[in-house]
Amino acid sequence: MKYPKSKYLIVLILLFAKFNLSSQSSSPGYTAFRPGEIWKDNEGNHINAHGGGILFKDGIYYWYGEHKGKSSLARVGITVYSSEDLYNWKNEGVALSVAKDPDSEITSGSVMERPKVVYNKKTDKYVMWFHLELKDQGYAAARTGIAISDSPLGPFTYLKSYRPNSKQWPQNFKEDWKETAKNGDPEEWWTPKWRKALKEGMFVRRDFENGQMSRDMTVYMDKDDTAYHITSSEENQTLHISKLTDDYLDFTGEWVRMQPGGQNEAPAIFEKDGYCYMITSGLTGWAPNAARSFRAKSIMGPWEKLGNPAVGENADKTFFSQSTFVLPVQGKEDSFIFMADRWKPKNHINGRYIWLPIEWENEKPIIRWKKEWDLSSF
Ligand code: DGJ
Repeated sequence: MKYPKSKYLIVLILLFAKFNLSSQSSSPGYTAFRPGEIWKDNEGNHINAHGGGILFKDGIYYWYGEHKGKSSLARVGITVYSSEDLYNWKNEGVALSVAKDPDSEITSGSVMERPKVVYNKKTDKYVMWFHLELKDQGYAAARTGIAISDSPLGPFTYLKSYRPNSKQWPQNFKEDWKETAKNGDPEEWWTPKWRKALKEGMFVRRDFENGQMSRDMTVYMDKDDTAYHITSSEENQTLHISKLTDDYLDFTGEWVRMQPGGQNEAPAIFEKDGYCYMITSGLTGWAPNAARSFRAKSIMGPWEKLGNPAVGENADKTFFSQSTFVLPVQGKEDSFIFMADRWKPKNHINGRYIWLPIEWENEKPIIRWKKEWDLSSF
């Protein structure tokens, strides 16, 4: 039987409408957080934004994270999702794409981790910092990367990557640590001599000319809009906290070491009642360990240890997760969400998100496991 062309058109339109409706109707309409469970986006797919961080701008939360496949290598880039209520997220695509050019530092097969985006009022630009490892070099490159965009949704343009603070001594570094002792620094790791030399700046001296190593990182913007880069350096043994330039695109040369030899990774920072708080993890690869917390009057320290913020069953493994960000909830004063990753190293795309409310006890942040919770608990 022959149909007139217009009938074909109507059938096509109906099919298209049906497809469109079904893809939208898979939006789950969440009203609560369920840490560790599959968390679907508006298209019905598990959110793919690991090691993430959140930017709030003009009433919208933007969640940036690592796109992961089975492996943890970057094949797509940094994704972005948007939300108005924090429960339901719209997939906004790729904010910073891996490069097709095999010679690019962010080519497919590189490692792009822990992206954090800040908005610069003065320049009206969105600035993304992330941990970058060059293709086929494992984790040896230890660089921080930077990209910029006019829109929170991207596309971000990759600018550069490097090891920061070249030829700059930290502010909390003793004068006599600037020279290597006459008989040199110890070569054998984990001995008491090596630990002492590490605390006294052995790796800072080693990397003084070419810049300090930078792996797990975050960027923190304080109330005065000054931004800081916080990173795991010195072979992951010591955190480095550096002040960024006014445009957030570079380091100022002002920096401090935090907890030399403390093996802190996965730093997340927030501010409450005139104190800066930091939550970190220990150093065990993709395997979970006990979180740590610290507080300081100024982000440049000195920092005081507050212990493991997680309490209850599985607190010694941070509920099988590792910190990535602490999110201040808008419109609810002093309400913070601890955001962490439950890594699945055998199939990274299946990594889960552990979001839990931060509670307070004796001015210390406390994190308790909750199977399900919502923002009314603040
Ligand atoms: C732990 C870090 O926190 C992750 O971001 C990732 O770099 C893994 N180590 C790699 O083993």
